[in-house]
Amino acid sequence: MSNKNRRTVIAGNWKMNKTPAEAVALIKDIRAEIDGKDTSGCEVVACVPFVDLAVVLDACKGSAIKVGAENVHWEKNGAYTGEISADMLKEIGVEYVIIGHSERRQYFGETDETVNLRVKAALAAGLKVILCVGELLAQREQGITAEVVALQTKVALQGVSADELKNVIIAYEPVWAIGTGRTATSEQADEVCGVIRAVVAGLYSDAAAEALTIQYGGSMNAKNAAELLAMPNVDGGLIGGASLKAPDFAVIINAAQ
Ligand code: PGA
Repeated sequence: MSNKNRRTVIAGNWKMNKTPAEAVALIKDIRAEIDGKDTSGCEVVACVPFVDLAVVLDACKGSAIKVGAENVHWEKNGAYTGEISADMLKEIGVEYVIIGHSERRQYFGETDETVNLRVKAALAAGLKVILCVGELLAQREQGITAEVVALQTKVALQGVSADELKNVIIAYEPVWAIGTGRTATSEQADEVCGVIRAVVAGLYSDAAAEALTIQYGGSMNAKNAAELLAMPNVDGGLIGGASLKAPDFAVIINAAQ
């Protein structure tokens, strides 16, 4: 499973950063770096806070940048104060949504089951999903990384058809590497991305697993991106901190060409 006949996707995860005005300024800076350059080697996505989506969609018109949200609720509508539905995102032109980020799991009570509900709702609405999985440091130290990631992947994909899977990207994000400056080695990243691919092969088929884009995320930056992206099972990156600096994000996009 090492031919890279897959879509490479470089996605920024802005988290809770940038007001709408700041968001437009950052998109302008990213465009100044990449507009007119050949970025055909990868898909570029900016996942931004809900209130930034409309202005970012506008600011990305005519560029290679696609736009994503950072979460979505699973119900179609109703009495869920403060939540945003997949149809709402779809209607304004959002293409991607991050689901199951470890910060949502850690701070907002996200479980594998609610991740699964969100994945199904997003796919049903025609959104593309960036599904995040990854182990805690204690789990890595206990030697149960593969089991943890396999379980997260299996539960998240319950009830997702092979056809729907084409709209799913999985992001392997070891929790101990997120925002810590401590990146997984390229071998560690590749190994766990390979585990995820094998799990998907078991759930669907070898062909489905072979076609699946699997990103690495966790302190990916301008310096380490090329090495990580060269690994056979790593098909892109989900980038937090470095996606907030246009020149760094551009270096990562370049590394994916
Ligand atoms: P980081 O975040 O690149 O700042 O480590 C990655 C992520 O949380 O998606």
